[in-house]
Amino acid sequence: MDYQIPDLIRKKRDNNILSDSEINYLVQQYSKGSMPDYQMSAFLMAAYLNGLNDQESTSLTHAMLSSGSILDLTHIPGVKVDKHSTGGVGDKLSLIIAPIVASLGVSVPMVSGRGLGHTGGTLDKLESIPGFTVDLSLERYVKIVKKHGLVLMGQTIEMAPADKKMYALRDVTATVESVPLIAGSIMSKKLAEGIDALVLDVKYGSGAFMKTQTHAIELAQILVDIGQSFNKPTIAFITSMETPTGSAIGNWLEVLESIDVLKGNGPSDTIYQSTLLSGAMLYLAGTVASIEAGIKEAKNAISSGKAFQKFRDIVQAQGGDLNYIDNPNSRGIPKHCYTITSRNQGYITSLDAYQLGTLSVRLGAGRLQKEHNIDPLAGIILEKKIGEYVQKGETLMTLHTNKDLDIGELERCAFSSIEWGTFQAEPQPLISHILDKNGLRVYS
Ligand code: URA
Repeated sequence: MDYQIPDLIRKKRDNNILSDSEINYLVQQYSKGSMPDYQMSAFLMAAYLNGLNDQESTSLTHAMLSSGSILDLTHIPGVKVDKHSTGGVGDKLSLIIAPIVASLGVSVPMVSGRGLGHTGGTLDKLESIPGFTVDLSLERYVKIVKKHGLVLMGQTIEMAPADKKMYALRDVTATVESVPLIAGSIMSKKLAEGIDALVLDVKYGSGAFMKTQTHAIELAQILVDIGQSFNKPTIAFITSMETPTGSAIGNWLEVLESIDVLKGNGPSDTIYQSTLLSGAMLYLAGTVASIEAGIKEAKNAISSGKAFQKFRDIVQAQGGDLNYIDNPNSRGIPKHCYTITSRNQGYITSLDAYQLGTLSVRLGAGRLQKEHNIDPLAGIILEKKIGEYVQKGETLMTLHTNKDLDIGELERCAFSSIEWGTFQAEPQPLISHILDKNGLRVYS
C-alpha cells in the first residue's frame, strides 16, 4: 500500500498511532533512498516527542529488520545466544563473556558496536589487538561460528541497514535518547544475527544512556517484550553505571583486564557481572537448569583455563597476533603515563563514570565524531575504587596517553570525578533487577 509521507509524519506529530503497514512504509522508503533525510528527521522527532506504543515499537523493529536479511544459523546445532549491553565506561564484559559461554559449548554469534562519546565499544577494544579484524563477510562469520562457536564482529551492510542510516541521522538530530527508538535499533540488529535467545545488560547512571533506573527499566521492558514477540527468550539485567566497570578504561587496557579475568584474576565487580551474564546465557541455551548453575559453570570455565583458551582461539581465527596476548608487555606503553596522587584523605564515596569516560576520550581512548581515530594504548587505570580509604599522596589513578596534554587540566578532571567522605558509603547493588517473561524482580 502507498501512503503520502507527510500524512504519516502528521499522524505521529499529532500523537496518533501508526499502523504496522504505515511504519513499514516509512522505513522501507527511507532505506531504499526514496524518502529524504529531512522527512525521516521530522518523523524521528515526532516519535521522540510523542513516543511509540508497544505495537509501534515492535513494528519499527520488524521494519528495520526487514530492510536487510536475517542470518540463517539453523544449520549450526544448538541454541545460539548473544548478550548486548546498552553501553558504559570500562565495560569490557563482552570480551570475557563470549569466550566463557562458547567454551561451554554454546554458540555466541556476537555483533557489537564502536564507542561513541564517553562510552567504549567492543569493536575498538578488539581492534587494539594488532591484526584483529572485526570486518568479516557473512560467509566468514558463519564459518567462524561453526568452527569456534564464537565470532566477534561489527554490523554488516546486510544486517538491519535501515538502522544504520537512521542511527546516523538520530545522532545529528538530537533523537538518540528515545526509549522506543533505542529499543528498535538494538533489537533489529540483534535479531538479524540469527540468534535464538538474548541476554541484555541495560545500564543506568551517569555513564549510561539512561540516566535513571526508571528509564532503564522502561527500556528493558520494551526490549524484553520485543524479544518475546519474535519468539526469542530474552532476559534483561538492570545494572548501575554510576562508576566504571573494573579498573581499566581504554581499549588495550581493557583487553589486558579481560585477559586477567579470563585467567582467574581481575576486579571483583567485573568477575561478578561477567559470570552472572554468562550464567544467564547458559540458562537460556538450556545447558543448565538455573542462572545460579550457569554462574557455577562459568566460574569453572575460568578456573579450568577453557575460557582463556577459547579467547586465544578466536583472536587467532580473526587474525589477531597471539604474541600480544601471551606477552602483553610487547604492546609497549604510550608516551606519557601520568600518576594522579591524592591531596585528600578519606573514603572515596563516588567515582563518576561519565567524567572518567570523558577524561579517557580526552586522553585519546575514544572519539567524539564517528570519523575520529582512537589511540589503542590511551586510557586510565583506577588504582582506587569506591569504598576504599585513601591516604594523602597515594596514587588514585594513572593516565595513559600519547598526546602532549596539560597535566594540570588532566589533574583537575581526575579530581572532579571523585567525591570524598569520612565514612565508608553503603555499597549500592551493581545489578538491581532482572526482567524476563515473568516480569520484573529485584535481583539479589
Ligand atoms: N545502541 C544502539 O544500537 N542503538 C541506539 O539507538 C542506542 C544505543
